[in-house]
Amino acid sequence: MSEAVRAALENSVDGLAENTPKTDAGFLWDFWYPAMRSEEIYGKNLAKAMLLEVPLVLGRTTEGKAFAMRDACPHRGIPLSYGHFDGKNLQCSYHGWEFEACSGQCVEIPSLTSHDKLKVERINAVHYPCEERDGYVWVYMSAPGTRLPERLPAAPELEKSSSKFKIMRLECELPSHIDHGIIGLMDPAHGPFVHQSWFWRSKTSIHEKAKQFEPIPNGFRMSPHQPSANSAPYKLLAKMTGETVTTTIDFVLPNMRTEIDRSGKLWFSSRATVTPVRRDLCRIDFVAAWNLPFPVSIFRIFAKIFLRQDQETMIRQSEGLKHNPRLMLIDDADRPAKD
Ligand code: FES
Ligand SMILES: [Fe+2]
Repeated sequence: MSEAVRAALENSVDGLAENTPKTDAGFLWDFWYPAMRSEEIYGKNLAKAMLLEVPLVLGRTTEGKAFAMRDACPHRGIPLSYGHFDGKNLQCSYHGWEFEACSGQCVEIPSLTSHDKLKVERINAVHYPCEERDGYVWVYMSAPGTRLPERLPAAPELEKSSSKFKIMRLECELPSHIDHGIIGLMDPAHGPFVHQSWFWRSKTSIHEKAKQFEPIPNGFRMSPHQPSANSAPYKLLAKMTGETVTTTIDFVLPNMRTEIDRSGKLWFSSRATVTPVRRDLCRIDFVAAWNLPFPVSIFRIFAKIFLRQDQETMIRQSEGLKHNPRLMLIDDADRPAKD
């Protein structure tokens, strides 16, 4: 966690954490959320993450399958991440109960004798479905105390329009409730003020532009349109192909904004997700793929500046939100967030 985010959290919590009432945190359950990068789980290591205030332990079996369990032993609650993983089963560090990592089923209780009638296989650690896409480990966060549906929806995957492409990933934390993170993700009106950069656009380039929206499953789409002619990257793209650029932007529940830009054979596809970690902390994961002749290193520098601008703004916003001000969503620019 960066120093700035930590400082913002410390200021906002002010020792209230223990007294925070366990009210509904307003999370959306029964969706896939990115927990961490695939590269963070390797060998027989166990990694910790938190999604929707649920502590998780993640790892990878010797066969290469990623798994996620609640980081609490069903016996006495000690985090399973203190345990030992042999590539198949995870053994709790307290009394040695063993759980099959991918199903959470208990397979061994060392203290049981041959006279004990307890059916070990009836005991389960809480586990969550886990899939890897685009270098992320996605975890399906089912609502506490509910059964998984018969068929799960497919884990999200970035759209790529050719087999050869470059890919880049970035993330940053925001000291905000997910609702503010999501509103910021959809908010088209902050662009010219927060994201002023020589490589993007300046404040003087503001102009009136109407956007059309259409419904799609679980969200809405900003209908394919030609992006701002005053943004340098789009200008460059049109110059390279000699064809117009079209942009399609989708917002999909619970937390996703995808954008696809095409011009001739060239394409650029990106996705930003804002994932609730706790009620006062969320994380943006940004992934982009493209077949344009832009090196990853250059693109990363620009994308980092962009994300940093959002992060700084949210840190400042959290300073204001500490005092529970009245807020408003106005028509037109805030319509996506309002709906
Ligand atoms: S607490 Fe895990 S085996 Fe007892
Ligand atoms: Fe932004």
